[in-house]
Amino acid sequence: MQVRAGGSAPGRVNLIGEHTDYSGGFVLPFAVDMRTTVTVTVRSDNRLRMWSHQDAASPAELSLQQLHPGWPEGWAAYVAGVIWVLREEGVAVPGLDVEVDGRVPIGAGLSSSAALTCASALALKQVCDLRLSAADLALVALRAENDYVGVPCGVMDQLAVMTARADHALFLDTQSLVSEHIPLRPDGHDAELLVIDTGARHRLADGAYADRRRSVERAAALLDVESLRALSVADLPLVRRRLDDETLWRRVRHVVSENRRVLDAVALLRDGRLRDVGPLLTASHVSLRDDFAVSSAELDTVVDACLAAGALGARLTGGGFGGSVIALVPATARQAVVTAVAQAAQVAGHATPTFAPVRPSDGAAEVRTPSS
Ligand code: GLA
Repeated sequence: MQVRAGGSAPGRVNLIGEHTDYSGGFVLPFAVDMRTTVTVTVRSDNRLRMWSHQDAASPAELSLQQLHPGWPEGWAAYVAGVIWVLREEGVAVPGLDVEVDGRVPIGAGLSSSAALTCASALALKQVCDLRLSAADLALVALRAENDYVGVPCGVMDQLAVMTARADHALFLDTQSLVSEHIPLRPDGHDAELLVIDTGARHRLADGAYADRRRSVERAAALLDVESLRALSVADLPLVRRRLDDETLWRRVRHVVSENRRVLDAVALLRDGRLRDVGPLLTASHVSLRDDFAVSSAELDTVVDACLAAGALGARLTGGGFGGSVIALVPATARQAVVTAVAQAAQVAGHATPTFAPVRPSDGAAEVRTPSS
């Protein structure tokens, strides 16, 4: 057993395939070069002491026996959740000092939570000598969020964070968990992927996310299918006739059409036609805004301003209700887009957005610590 070990995990941006991962659908995320590092050191008692470089109020201190879902609150719950899941599965997790350095912005739709749980899982794998694959660790991290923190998210973020590869997007089938790395090099197309953080924070635990998940599960039950993945665009006229509820119909139309858009985007990327993916991004945003109702005034303002200033496509990324937009922008239009977005946000009285050109990066990795 190692007495000290570390894990480092990136945030992720979802290029396309939003709100499909809890219906067995397709997603196409990539990792970004903003990372969270978790270092754990084994203690001789059974206490857990967790502190974060980004939280002046830390450390949080408790005993391993005290762990129970829903407690403590805040970032420490994500670390505690991973430890709790492993203990539930019979792993003898020792007392630990846990140091977190989280460089993925929180609430920006970039999955800071998956970065934290996956980095924690990787560090624990080493100190507990676990023979677990990257996919196994992703599922531990997912359970920590679902069962401990109480966010009913799907599996996209954890798998993206664990298994992403530089200069590629991860084409993931969330039903079979089969994935494939698809080359994604915007610079080879004189284009850039720009993440624009609206500054409006989202909180997936707030209920609207859970509500969306419940409605697609209800629709699947009414339509007598295991999940919405079983439906294709050709089935939509029949779905329309079978669902009286207008809201449920719109939710289904989003999920089914979004799965199609992911397949179309993958086909275009395989063909070397990145620029043609732009209109699919924009169509995804319109569907998320009008049918799935997870956008916000801030996100819509940014998307509209991007398109008016020459972006090839733009959409909200992540759970929605705030957070970030991903825009595909011709390199020559970048400055115009930045200026137009900043201006539009100011005119609308929104927070000042921040801009980060992103490049698909590598997924999570073990970190060698001096005494490991
Ligand atoms: C959040 C969840 C993911 C996924 C997205 C929406 O990021 O964590 O599992 O459902 O929302 O696509």
